[in-house]
Amino acid sequence: MPNIIEHTIRVAQIKESELDESERLLLRSAKEAADRSYAPYSNFHVGVALLLSNGEIITGNNQENCAYPSGLCAERTALFYAKSKYPDCAIDTIMITARDTNGQFTPAPVSPCGSCRQVMLETEMRQSKNIKIIMYGTDCITIIQSAKDLLPLSFNNLFPQK
Ligand code: THU
Repeated sequence: MPNIIEHTIRVAQIKESELDESERLLLRSAKEAADRSYAPYSNFHVGVALLLSNGEIITGNNQENCAYPSGLCAERTALFYAKSKYPDCAIDTIMITARDTNGQFTPAPVSPCGSCRQVMLETEMRQSKNIKIIMYGTDCITIIQSAKDLLPLSFNNLFPQK
């Protein structure tokens, strides 16, 4: 018999009215970033806002290209920019929003793609502090307390050991 390992993740579901003041500010920033996204091919406009431990908010949005794989997701645009601007500053929270092809913010929470999860996870490992991930939808908001919960059995073999 194989040894079975079970992974349990905690997913909180809340309403917009339950966000605290700083999360509301983050939400407004992420939505504004979605409005500035460059997504003429998918018409899916993703906007992200990061709250850094120095109190700064960094935003990002998806940047597409006619050579499709050359584009980049909103989450990685923001995470890489934050690392380039404040290399030693931890990221506390990431808020993810998106306007759908109909121009409305999505009713369901926006769940990040696998590559963005991988980058979030490395950020978390580097800073030794969990990132709170808030996935926004107009009907429901999903909150996860760590990138590890979004990517079990992740690749981290080459991550530098201290
Ligand atoms: N996209 C993001 O920005 N973040 C994700 O986590 C998933 C997808 C973008 C990539 C592309 O510009 C568009 O959404 C459609 O996939």
